[in-house]
Amino acid sequence: MAVSEKAPLRVLFATPEVAPWVKTGGLGDVSAALPAALAEAGIEVRMLVPAYPALVAAFPGRIPLVQVERPGAELLPATISCVALQPRLELLLVECPAYYERHGGPYQDRSGRDWPDNALRFGLLSRLAALLASSETPLDWRPDVLHCNDWQTALAPAYLRYRHEAGAASVTTIHNLAFQGLFPMARIHALDLPVAAMTIEGVEFHGRISFLKAGLQHSDRLTTVSPTYAREICEPEHGFGLDGLLRHRRDRRSGDLVGILNGIDTRQWDPATDRSIAARYGARSLALKQLNRAALGERLGLALQADTPLLGMISRITRQKGADLVIDAAPELLARGARVVVLGSGDADLEARWRALAAAHPGRIAARIGFDEALAHLIEAGADLFLMPSRFEPCGLNQMYSLAYGTPPVVRATGGLADTVVDCTPRTLADGTANGFAFGPPTTEALLAAVDRAIEAWREPATWRRLQRNGMARDWGWGPAARQYADLYRSCLRAGQ
Ligand code: ADP
Ligand code: GLC
Repeated sequence: MAVSEKAPLRVLFATPEVAPWVKTGGLGDVSAALPAALAEAGIEVRMLVPAYPALVAAFPGRIPLVQVERPGAELLPATISCVALQPRLELLLVECPAYYERHGGPYQDRSGRDWPDNALRFGLLSRLAALLASSETPLDWRPDVLHCNDWQTALAPAYLRYRHEAGAASVTTIHNLAFQGLFPMARIHALDLPVAAMTIEGVEFHGRISFLKAGLQHSDRLTTVSPTYAREICEPEHGFGLDGLLRHRRDRRSGDLVGILNGIDTRQWDPATDRSIAARYGARSLALKQLNRAALGERLGLALQADTPLLGMISRITRQKGADLVIDAAPELLARGARVVVLGSGDADLEARWRALAAAHPGRIAARIGFDEALAHLIEAGADLFLMPSRFEPCGLNQMYSLAYGTPPVVRATGGLADTVVDCTPRTLADGTANGFAFGPPTTEALLAAVDRAIEAWREPATWRRLQRNGMARDWGWGPAARQYADLYRSCLRAGQ
């Protein structure tokens, strides 16, 4: 499709979550902030999201646009309704109460079991994304680019290919290759995909349907959320069996795989304006940060001391995030006098180990199991150091929040952590880039060695201020990423002309 350079670019952004209404992790944050930044940059964006209960409740005045009676095969009918969010940005809700209006999470029931019909629930989301991006769209607005996010929307480029004559260019963003949306091959008919799609060049992955692979095969361009992760997923160690396909896409002349570093939503995450913290502060008023430290200690019943640091951690409590490394390191951290606060939820056995540690060391370890947005802000502001020893990390947002809050992070140098955290060394201190601590091997020993370096630096106020200010000086907002996505959209349109 030819587009004049002057006409505003139109993008359909399909996503399974959007903060603050539906969020299980960073994808919810990204879906709230990136479309807004694209709209501010002059792009017309429509976001396609399932109408979960929180969205239905938030937008009673939404306007029904069209009813899709027969999305295909066993997929249930749905109504698409619309809400204007800001200039050039609208939310399109997929209303199918039988699929989406359930008590529980977007992917799982309250006891943590996957919804048994997830293939159909996200098959419908993908199917409608493709329909709206095709020449057969029932709407009077047709996008130039369909931007899919993660497996829940990644079947859309396959529908465009197998079920439509013509359609928008497509981009699929991988937020985490570990989640692929694998379902029995027998579901292929229910999903309204042809037998021709059941091949290794189609949606088949080791005898099953892979939603994510469908997107990796059929999208015009692929992105992931940091340059280092873009390299890592092309290697077997982090490729989850898809590294061969990813290398193939990367090595094509059009260079189909790129890493674009996420930003953070500075409307929500700025210590100078944050309403969830005890005292607002900036790079020139870092002394006020102490008030947040004290407030956090008091709220969690921690016995804080002036000469030992408070370490914070907020994340899914999983092996991906290195939760086990921190748990194993806990006795040594306590031996150094450190206090530890962890906020998160995840694997039941790791949660139980955190609870047991907190019970065994009251006043020294606080574990809050659950999701608590306001507490997350206070931890970012009140902790001295932030821990993020992920085994792999496509981008990671929390280390960027910590950097913006003057809470230097200790991270494993992988994925987006490697792209944002500059290890403190005499050289990086001298050239003004040092902003945290990074280590290599995913071991408790390596984590502790990095924490020891951090504690040593924390005890030197001048060094510490420099580290804090270096992190706070960089603009972590979405502007640079929005420009890169806009260039990418334009480049895939030019390629398709
Ligand atoms: P991922 O998406 O892999 O879980 P990210 O670092 O990209 O990791 O994003 C996680 C997001 O979820 C951040 O906004 C973080 O603050 C938030 N978060 C994670 N766990 C919790 C929790 N228990 N309470 C509040 N916020 C949380
Ligand atoms: C995923 C990744 C995380 C990333 C987020 C947003 O959940 O695990 O690293 O920051 O997506 O892209």
